This record gives sequence, structure tokens and C-alpha cells, in this order.
Amino acid sequence: MQKPRTILDFQRMKAEGEKIAVLTSYDFPMTGIMDACGIDMILVGDSVGVVVAGYDNTLPVTMEDMIYHTRAVMRARPKAFVVADLPFLSYQTDLKSARLNAGLLVKDGGAAAVKIEGGVNVEETITAITDMDIPVVGHIGLTPQSLHRMGGFKVQGKGEEQAEKLMADALAVERAGAFAVVLEGIPMSLAARITAELSIPTIGIGAGPHCDGQVLVIHDILGLCSKYSPKFVKRYAELAPLIGEACSNYIAEVKGGIFPEERHGFK
Ligand code: KIV
Repeated sequence: MQKPRTILDFQRMKAEGEKIAVLTSYDFPMTGIMDACGIDMILVGDSVGVVVAGYDNTLPVTMEDMIYHTRAVMRARPKAFVVADLPFLSYQTDLKSARLNAGLLVKDGGAAAVKIEGGVNVEETITAITDMDIPVVGHIGLTPQSLHRMGGFKVQGKGEEQAEKLMADALAVERAGAFAVVLEGIPMSLAARITAELSIPTIGIGAGPHCDGQVLVIHDILGLCSKYSPKFVKRYAELAPLIGEACSNYIAEVKGGIFPEERHGFK
């Protein structure tokens, strides 16, 4: 059985060239399943707003949402290292609220670490949180909370100038004390450069194969989201039709008087 993952494992894994496997989770049963499979890190992502709550983007997600879902994940007592996202407006206005909200995800939610979007612009914020002994994962490149600045969910860091800007973001996140950084939606060659330059592990999503680890949204890999399927997603299962079939069978059996049978009742 896998030993509980700690922050120390990820530095060792980078040093030894062992890839880090990360998935998002938002609830108790899914966490139990992926944890039993040996996932290294679980991200309670603010993507919950899109794949569970049905919003168009992550901006409406609240601290209450994040604490609720982090608690549900933690009730599965995962051996994986659990990181919770700081949602939009929980850290941008001032350092005091950033520290308080990071603390709440750990104290009330039970997470071991928090993730925060941004580079140079959040350097001070990451330092303020790590100074409280809360481990931080950075997140640069295509940062979904910056949707409106980016003009949509577009690949970032294309061209020399943008690439240098992203390199500066990566170095700022590392300097600020983050123990890992998510690289989202950037060219593979740039992700490879950043991964080689940084001493902390890089976790890619839509950033190619040269990162120290990979993260994907659980609903995407299971084929549960029919809305869209980005190029970087690999679907390891197609569960939506299976669920549809089960629901159709149930409806037909209830309407046809087939379910429940005697054996499903009490004497
Ligand atoms: O919210 C999320 O799930 C994320 C990952 C996609 C990296 O930030």
C-alpha cells in the first residue's frame, strides 16, 4: 500500500525523474477510487465550478464552494497529497485576505496546500502564504481566472516576448517559495525550458510531455463532459453513454413495473 504523500516526495520525484500524476477531485467517492489507484496528488480545483456546477468559467466559484468540496475529498482520507485552489477574489485584493483564505482551506477544508494563479503579479502573495507554513503550488500560462484579460482560453507564451514573460513568471513563483508550479496551455518547448530551469517540479496541463508531472480534470478523462473536449485531454473512458444507458434502463423498468422486484423489498 502507498505511503501518504508529503511535500518532500515531489522534490525527490523531480530529482529522480519519476513523473508526478495529478488528477482533480471534488467529492468523496471519486477520491476513494483514484486514491486506491495510487494517484500522487489530488487537486480540488476551482474547475469544480465548470464540471460540477455548470458555470461557463471558474470566476463564480466561492471560498464556501472550495471548503465544501475540499472537506468531501478529505473525508476519503486520501494518501495522495491534497491541494485546494484559492478561487477568484479570495487572494487578489490584499495579502491579509489571501493569508486568511489560504488558512481556511487548510484549517476548515483539511487541504495540505493551496494553489494560486499568477506569476510576477502574485509573488508577494505566495511569499505571504508560504511564510505561514502553508505550501503553495503556483499556476502560470493559461490561467482560467484571467479569462477576460487573455480574451478567452488561449494558448499563452507564444513568441519570444511572451515566452520570456512566462519564464519570468515561473522564476518569480519559485523565488516566492512555491513547491511546485502548474504550467497550463503553453508550447511544449517553453514548458521543457521552464522545467529544466526550475528546481521545483512543473505539473503540465496542455503543456506537452516534458514537464515533471501531469494534471487533468477527472470529468474530462472519464468522458463525462460533453460540452467541449480540449486537444490536450485524453479520454480514458466514455462514461456518459454508460450512465445514460443505466438511467434509460431504470426509467423503462420503473415504468414497465419491472423494478423493484420482491427481492428488493422488506418482509
Ligand atoms: O481548477 C483546476 O482544475 C485547475 C487544473 C486544471 C490545473 O486549475
